[in-house]
Amino acid sequence: MDARELQELKERADAVVLAHYYVDGTVQAMADCVGDSYYLAKVAAQSEKSTIVFCGVRFMGESAKILNPSRRVLLPDGRADCPMAHMAKTEDVRRLRAEIPGLAVVCYINSTAALKAESDVCVTSSNALKIVSALPNKDILFIPDDSLGHYIAARLPEKRFHYLGGHCPVHAVVLAQDVESEKLAHPAAKVLTHPECRGEVRALSDFVGSTAEIISFAEKSDSKEFILCTEPGVLYELSRRCTGKVFYPVTPVCADMKFITPEEVLACLRGEGFEVTMSAEEMDAARRPLERMLELAK
Ligand code: 13P
Ligand code: SF4
Repeated sequence: MDARELQELKERADAVVLAHYYVDGTVQAMADCVGDSYYLAKVAAQSEKSTIVFCGVRFMGESAKILNPSRRVLLPDGRADCPMAHMAKTEDVRRLRAEIPGLAVVCYINSTAALKAESDVCVTSSNALKIVSALPNKDILFIPDDSLGHYIAARLPEKRFHYLGGHCPVHAVVLAQDVESEKLAHPAAKVLTHPECRGEVRALSDFVGSTAEIISFAEKSDSKEFILCTEPGVLYELSRRCTGKVFYPVTPVCADMKFITPEEVLACLRGEGFEVTMSAEEMDAARRPLERMLELAK
């Protein structure tokens, strides 16, 4: 299908196609907007199309639906779910709230709607530092990603962080020794790392940031070689924006993001796909922390 036919299909469906940098490049190529979690949440919240086709994992589609509930949100592949989104338990959040007076619950957007509903504010990897530093609370329960939480905690020593023990199974498998052996092979390369990576990996890095921040750093950098500690789907955008630069990925692929195929995106535009549905109560409970994120991150 050529670009004109794809455009006609989108117009007939009154749909916008959003894609995260981790989906396959063939899927990113079909999208109207490609970006990191924060950018895509903002675009979804403002979309005036009646259908949003979200090429990403379930929590991304749920966040889009919660922020823009009158739209139909379709996931191309219903299997695509982020394992980390389920790694904190609502009963543990409630227990800590009861134990620690003045606790603020900060919830990474990579979480279920039920976890968001227990939280004071959501964050993404690109706005977490700004948002947590703006909170008046000293005690912060950061869920569900301990790595991102530790990364932010190291920058805000005046606050006391609490965790419930979650991680990204894709980023957490990268070890310091994997980065060190890449550095030996490519001594001039700069190390670019997503904050979901372990502390030992972040400590070896020249830059730590969200997927969009990593891409922008690589584009502006004078360096020609980079060791990439984030999901290799970003290579598609990097190859478009960084001609002549070389990237050595050390992170495995996110199998959930890679479920999504161009055929499934086309199926969504023909009215199929997996519609994100939640009860009004579920959505109402999770909306405030997401909206607070959009306000505080401005
Ligand atoms: P970003 O905030 O960079 O989009 O990261 C999302 C994600 O799922 C990382 O694993
Ligand atoms: Fe979840 Fe990790 Fe995949 Fe991101 S890369 S969607 S955090 S499993």
